[in-house]
Amino acid sequence: MDTRSIESHALDAPSCAGTIDPRLEEEHVVFKAAVREIQSELDRAHDSRDIEGERDALLSSLVRLRSLLLGHFSREEKGWSQIDVTACTPSTRRWIERLVREHRDYLKRVGELTTALEATSLSGITLAPEFDGELSALLADLTEHELAEERWMQRSMFEGMLGGD
Ligand SMILES: [Fe+2]
Ligand SMILES: [Fe+2]
Repeated sequence: MDTRSIESHALDAPSCAGTIDPRLEEEHVVFKAAVREIQSELDRAHDSRDIEGERDALLSSLVRLRSLLLGHFSREEKGWSQIDVTACTPSTRRWIERLVREHRDYLKRVGELTTALEATSLSGITLAPEFDGELSALLADLTEHELAEERWMQRSMFEGMLGGD
């Protein structure tokens, strides 16, 4: 079976894979570029030892990332909510629960980091020393999440074709 027939089968048949919003793939590309850009801004701040100097660029990047994540996560979760879970293995069901939990965690963390950056921007006070470490950790976790999600989507597509276990 070639890739094209696999894709059309997976999209047409009721399955564990559910319906995949075609915008998600494009958003993953935009998302990866946004993460790379924020990491570059952080690296420049490290190189110049001046995270304050990168604050405005970082703030607009974080606001954009949060907005991107809100739309992206909500589209992913809408697709997963339409999945026929009886076609999924227990491990796939646990994957969905884990991914949704992680979405909540990332939105909370990106919101807190944005608020911290905004507060220092308005008041002129110095950022907490742990800020850049926490942002780097968030970017690494988000990247790992997306990779895990891609692996899961591929696996669930085949599960759906085979009818689960
Ligand atoms: Fe996700
Ligand atoms: Fe995603």
